[in-house]
Amino acid sequence: MIREMRAAIFDLDGVIVNTAKYHYLVWKRLANELGFDFTQTDNERLKGVSRTRSLEILLEIGGLTLDDAVKSQLAKKKNDWYVDYIYHMDESEILPGAAEYLRAIRAKGVKTALGSASKNAPLILERLGISSLFDVIVDGNKVSQAKPDPEVFLCAAEGLNMLPAHCVVFEDAEAGIEAAHRAGMSAVGIGKANVLQDADIIISGLSELMILSAA
Ligand code: G6P
Ligand code: MG
Repeated sequence: MIREMRAAIFDLDGVIVNTAKYHYLVWKRLANELGFDFTQTDNERLKGVSRTRSLEILLEIGGLTLDDAVKSQLAKKKNDWYVDYIYHMDESEILPGAAEYLRAIRAKGVKTALGSASKNAPLILERLGISSLFDVIVDGNKVSQAKPDPEVFLCAAEGLNMLPAHCVVFEDAEAGIEAAHRAGMSAVGIGKANVLQDADIIISGLSELMILSAA
């Protein structure tokens, strides 16, 4: 059940922009270089999860144990490939309805924040030209605990000077829904019901909310 929304906190990847497809392509490329395959289903486990933890999961899937120095080289390699994709992004890659929904709720006085595990979030928002649609930006550079820890959302609520009970989180990842609930916030799941069954409501994308508010 969604309570009164005074602030909305948005995950980035899979909610505002479909960077999940780029993360998938580069993790798959890395897995293939290491000699094993990596499927779309495997990729679901990495959504919302930090880069370091994602690499650990990937190596678990491939049955590899590597030392920390090698792991940090691999994480850097993955990020270099990923940033190459990001540099070519533009506003056409904003997911349908996302910018419109942000503008619509801001016009009604709702505060907005980004709550993302991505250290590349500021660069992505800049490439998309939508940094100004957020009152507060909390990204992977500002928090130390990865979702499902609630740190990223609590930090966003604090930045907005809002009580968690007045914040609604928009998330496409299971780990993010859990993080929202652990923060004492409502959670709107964006994606498939079989993955996001713990969300308070589930929608296919922010465009659905634009249609509902226009009805
Ligand atoms: C988001 C994505 C994850 C990604 C994480 C870190 O949460 O859903 O797939 O691993 O951000 O992103 P970064 O850009 O810092 O590697
Ligand atoms: Mg996400």
